[in-house]
Amino acid sequence: MLELELDKVDPEVFAAVGSEMDRERRNLVMIASENYASRAVIQAQANVMTNKYAEGYPGSRYYGGCEYVDVVEKLAVERVRTLFRAPYANVQPHSGSQANMAVLLTFLEPGDLIMGMDLSHGGHLTHGSPVNFSGRLFRTVFYGLDTEGRRIDMDRVRDLALKHRPRLIIAGASAYPRIIDFAAFGEIAREIDAYFMVDMAHIAGLVAAGLHPSPMTDADFVTSTTHKTLRGPRGGIILAREKYGQALDKGVFPGIQGGPLMHIIAAKAVAFGEALDPSFLTYQERVVSNARVLAEELLAAGFDLVTGGTDNHLLLLDLSRKEVTGLDAERALGEAGIVANKNAVPFDRRGPKVTSGIRLGTPALTTRGMGEDEMRTIARFIVLVLQSPGSEAVKMEVREKVTELCRAFPVYSYLDGGR
Ligand SMILES: Cc1ncc(COP(=O)(O)O)c(C=O)c1O
Repeated sequence: MLELELDKVDPEVFAAVGSEMDRERRNLVMIASENYASRAVIQAQANVMTNKYAEGYPGSRYYGGCEYVDVVEKLAVERVRTLFRAPYANVQPHSGSQANMAVLLTFLEPGDLIMGMDLSHGGHLTHGSPVNFSGRLFRTVFYGLDTEGRRIDMDRVRDLALKHRPRLIIAGASAYPRIIDFAAFGEIAREIDAYFMVDMAHIAGLVAAGLHPSPMTDADFVTSTTHKTLRGPRGGIILAREKYGQALDKGVFPGIQGGPLMHIIAAKAVAFGEALDPSFLTYQERVVSNARVLAEELLAAGFDLVTGGTDNHLLLLDLSRKEVTGLDAERALGEAGIVANKNAVPFDRRGPKVTSGIRLGTPALTTRGMGEDEMRTIARFIVLVLQSPGSEAVKMEVREKVTELCRAFPVYSYLDGGR
């Protein structure tokens, strides 16, 4: 059993993995939080380090035999510290949510007040949503966009902070297409003596490339996922000032996790190495210019965008003035081979299962090698589908063109002929 290949041991799982690979190849992946990890990143996580227990940290583990996993964890820590100029880094969080949980549970007591961005304005579940541990364990107050829906309302952030005096303020979002003013948030946090945490999960790649201001000087703690614009394996990280390091180490393990996923940490090390390469800057520049072109084309075709455009890797199509809902748009685009997700827009009059928005991102398409010309073409596809979401003929016509485009920008061709 130990020596057999996956197709022999488990044909069902093998087939599903193969189908997923085909799906990723045949469609335009425009989910803003997704990307294509490199061959090296995928290889680094598919290895025997999955076998190893390594509770603790390099040089101080609760298990023997950690000499080689120590090598990869040290590399991951050193590289991510260099990448973000971070005095302290913890690469063990299993996910972005775990990274946020570790910070909140390390520095706060249940019942403390936290302030984050409203989910329906672009925030994340772990920033205080009542359906998440963060909203169940902590009291919450939310800020959002200004009434015109153009930018985060920093005056209101300050007013709310002074009025409610949260112990911790969170900046960072899952669906906000603009630069976030971390310095302004930091000043407000200092004014009320609150901790300031930045969750840069979505924009980490842009921050690494210097295309979004870094939160490192203003924030006490910075959390991130490693699999979005950063293009690594699925996972999380915490960066912080040196003085918080010891507490955070304990907060992650034994605080909220057991053994770290050493195969994933190996892949994180590889991804951080890739992000330190100058080609990563070029990639991120293209991610941003592609999003800008896509936004310009959709605006020119008469669609509304939340905040009127984008500065980063994503845009949020506001369908409030259109007949089509976010849910219908997601379905219609999916049938045409364009994978995106419905998303609430600020002041949405439709519920969270329907919504009035579609979130579109460029990280995965850019990894495939697509550029501004392809963005113009894709914008035309999106417009066609959203103008007639019920038309099978339109969806079929676009689907065919999407297939052609995907063939011209192959992914994972090294896997052809064998999974
Ligand atoms: C801003 C932000 N923080 C945290 C997370 C959670 O990451 P994960 O899905 O790895 O738990 C996400 C995921 O979408 C996110 O967008």
